[in-house]
Amino acid sequence: MDQVSREQVLQALRDVQDPELHKSIVDLDMVKDVRIRDGVVSVEALLTIGGCPLRDTIQLSIEERLRRLPGVRGVQVSLGVMSDAQRQALIGKLRGGSTSPQQRSAFLTPESPTRVIVVASGKGGVGKSTVTVNLAVAMRQAGWRIGIIDADVYGFSIPRMLGLDGQPTVIDQMIIPLEKDGIRVMSIGFLLPDEGEAVIWRGPILHKTITTFIGEVHWGDDLDYLLIDLPPGTGDVPITLAQTLPQAHMVVVTTPQPAAVNVARRAARMAEKVNMEVLGIVENMSWFQAAPGAPPVYIFGRGGGLRLAELLGVPLLGEIPLDPAIREGSDAGEPIVTTHPDSPAARAFHQVAARLVERLPARVG
Ligand SMILES: Nc1ncnc2c1ncn2[C@@H]1O[C@H](COP(=O)(O)OP(=O)(O)OP(=O)(O)O)[C@@H](O)[C@H]1O
Ligand SMILES: [Mg+2]
Repeated sequence: MDQVSREQVLQALRDVQDPELHKSIVDLDMVKDVRIRDGVVSVEALLTIGGCPLRDTIQLSIEERLRRLPGVRGVQVSLGVMSDAQRQALIGKLRGGSTSPQQRSAFLTPESPTRVIVVASGKGGVGKSTVTVNLAVAMRQAGWRIGIIDADVYGFSIPRMLGLDGQPTVIDQMIIPLEKDGIRVMSIGFLLPDEGEAVIWRGPILHKTITTFIGEVHWGDDLDYLLIDLPPGTGDVPITLAQTLPQAHMVVVTTPQPAAVNVARRAARMAEKVNMEVLGIVENMSWFQAAPGAPPVYIFGRGGGLRLAELLGVPLLGEIPLDPAIREGSDAGEPIVTTHPDSPAARAFHQVAARLVERLPARVG
């Protein structure tokens, strides 16, 4: 039988990624020691922090990958923990050699490959957060690498809508986003002791929270799209975003009644003020159908989305029907695109996702 070599083992281990950092454990210098004896490979890998919640995943991935190598008769994996100096070196590497916090995130460089889409509306409750999570799932299902920033610091709802709780791993002040079905997510909700806690910070801290989410969270350098869920209204957050992410684009969510159009126009005006291009309009709660084939009922009137699109000279990207399953999905932490993929609403979300990608093609993928 062929003897497996150390180089072959290291080459194979390049395929094993740290599940949170999304980089090969070899590139992250997590492989400390490799020994081979009579076809039995022993690997010592170093975890970034003690009590790493994903230690079993890492161990299994190493074992599974090495077992597939020809000539390997057995695999032994032992896990250690990095020293402070090793961890510092790793963080330096993740930041691209820079020690400045503002350099940490790939989004902050002008040549960033990540497309940023801000989901806005003039008023509350029209479905921004619902649109954000369902678009994220639809785009993820289409194969794109997606991140979500919940920029609604006072009224965050993304964690509940995605069924995410728990605290993010923090490696020496670098926050690792939580993940849902491959979507990387950051929300103030992950950092507060309990969901009911009121956030009463004032402007400067709001600004700092948003810039931290952008600049100091380890998003990786491979995201195709970053979706940002805005708070209702036209407060300070869009200004902070525009300053921090000058390449961001906007999607405006509106409901169909003519009165909503004027309100939604405010969001578009704000976009203009901060120099963000509006990619298009999503009309939400467009109609209700009691059963498949039943006549649609236009509960909130008709035509608002199209009218706004015409006023702004941008496309209407899609119309999302009212569906109780959307609300149930939000409350249960499973978006309708996941739970009812064949529903008209889920199909409408997929259509919006496809049009968005057409309007703003990915740079990474
Ligand atoms: N098309 C829809 N059909 C049924 N329910 C919906 C639909 N869109 C949104 N909802 C429900 O309406 C409520 C408000 O939606 P959502 O929280 O997404 O709005 P929002 O614009 O983000 O609100 P806020 O301005 O407070 O952030 C939620 O309970 C959501 O589940
Ligand atoms: Mg919201």
